[in-house]
Amino acid sequence: MTDVREVLARDLTAARERTLRLTDHDEPELLRQHTPLLSPLVWDLAHIGQQEDLWLLRRGDAARPGLLPPDVEALYDAFTQPRAVRAQLPLLPPVEARAYCAEVRGRVLDRVDRLGSAGDAAGESFAVAMVVSHEQQHDETMLQALALRAGPPLLGTGAPLPPGRPGVAGTSVLVPGGEFVLGVDAADEPFSLDNERPAHVVDVPAFRIGRVPVTNAEYAAFVADGGYADDRWWSGRGRAHRDEAGLTAPMYWGAGGAAGTRTRFGVVEELPGDEPVQHVTYFEAEAYAAWAGARLPTEVEWEKAAVWDPALRRRRRFPWGDAEPTAALANLDGLALRPARVGAYPAGASAYGAEQLMGDVWEWTSSDFTPWPGFRPMLYADYSAPFFGGDHKVLRGGSWAVGSSILRPSFRNWDHPIRRQVFSGFRLAWSVDEPGA
Ligand code: AVJ
Ligand code: FE
Repeated sequence: MTDVREVLARDLTAARERTLRLTDHDEPELLRQHTPLLSPLVWDLAHIGQQEDLWLLRRGDAARPGLLPPDVEALYDAFTQPRAVRAQLPLLPPVEARAYCAEVRGRVLDRVDRLGSAGDAAGESFAVAMVVSHEQQHDETMLQALALRAGPPLLGTGAPLPPGRPGVAGTSVLVPGGEFVLGVDAADEPFSLDNERPAHVVDVPAFRIGRVPVTNAEYAAFVADGGYADDRWWSGRGRAHRDEAGLTAPMYWGAGGAAGTRTRFGVVEELPGDEPVQHVTYFEAEAYAAWAGARLPTEVEWEKAAVWDPALRRRRRFPWGDAEPTAALANLDGLALRPARVGAYPAGASAYGAEQLMGDVWEWTSSDFTPWPGFRPMLYADYSAPFFGGDHKVLRGGSWAVGSSILRPSFRNWDHPIRRQVFSGFRLAWSVDEPGA
């Protein structure tokens, strides 16, 4: 059994290596803001350190002095500094931001070393894992910003991926009706975040779900069929947003008006037909599903298809079983800079046969972001709770840009239904009338 201190030190270090690689650019590059929806990278960098300082060195007590003067620290408060204005703030220059993050990290690693020698070791290791999750999530946000960056490619074309398999696009699997355990408890998943808890039994009627996410080729057929102009497929809000934003295709498609191409981190390339469609809003996913005679899954259906083992009547830790993710099972960690082609991970299939549930693209579900019954906020109490009941749809599964150490099938992401700078795609679902059900 690996010592939890080793796991935490390893995960902290992996997250930091990733952060430093993503921010290893000159000062003007780090100060650039690519969209009002996202921060300049130098803000993310110091905010990562500030949150670590607050949650780990001060146990969340903001009244205690941190390593930054209070007026400087206030610049990195996500709730009081809207993203659109962050580039205009007197932010720490990159050299100082890196030094601050390194100073905080040095003290945190000392504490991790001493973990377990006294006090609430479980609570402390949870807090460290929570901070790792926060850093990794900002690393993904930084990749969203870099995808929007104009100019020649900064990150190359990405690491290679396994090939896809023919014949899986457009197919589905059956999930028979019945009860399953939704969500997790700290006892099974000590590093699960507040919104994933607690575990509870729910009954889910039978449904079918896409074996893999909807592909570019499938989505292109919807576009070619005039799907964007046909109001039959769009909800009222979807139509309003489509018209206001002038949506005619997924974001990054058709560079310079050229059909069949896309721009990916500054590289213009042929649109790969058998890759999951990426960079669509919830409303586009919803319209495609209506056109295809399907619907989006609920997040509860998604989680059942991903983790329930009907033979053993228990959850698996991951869709494929209890083993940690590897490069043979899922496309994670932000190295590929793209989703893998459908069928690339047969060994990653769930008990019901659904594939590519973890990694590749975040999958829009039809569910609003609400707490599970018995929800209790964690140390970072404003991580989830302020967003419950807002205009947010839940995304499941995790994109290629998610750090593997923070992801579980119970992980819940959320965003406004109009957003598509996220690495977002979707899979389809269908209700099933089961005889005798
Ligand atoms: C869970 C991805 C929606 O980026 O707004 C980062 C994660 N929370 N810092 C976000 C988060 C605080 C959050 N999402
Ligand atoms: Fe944050």
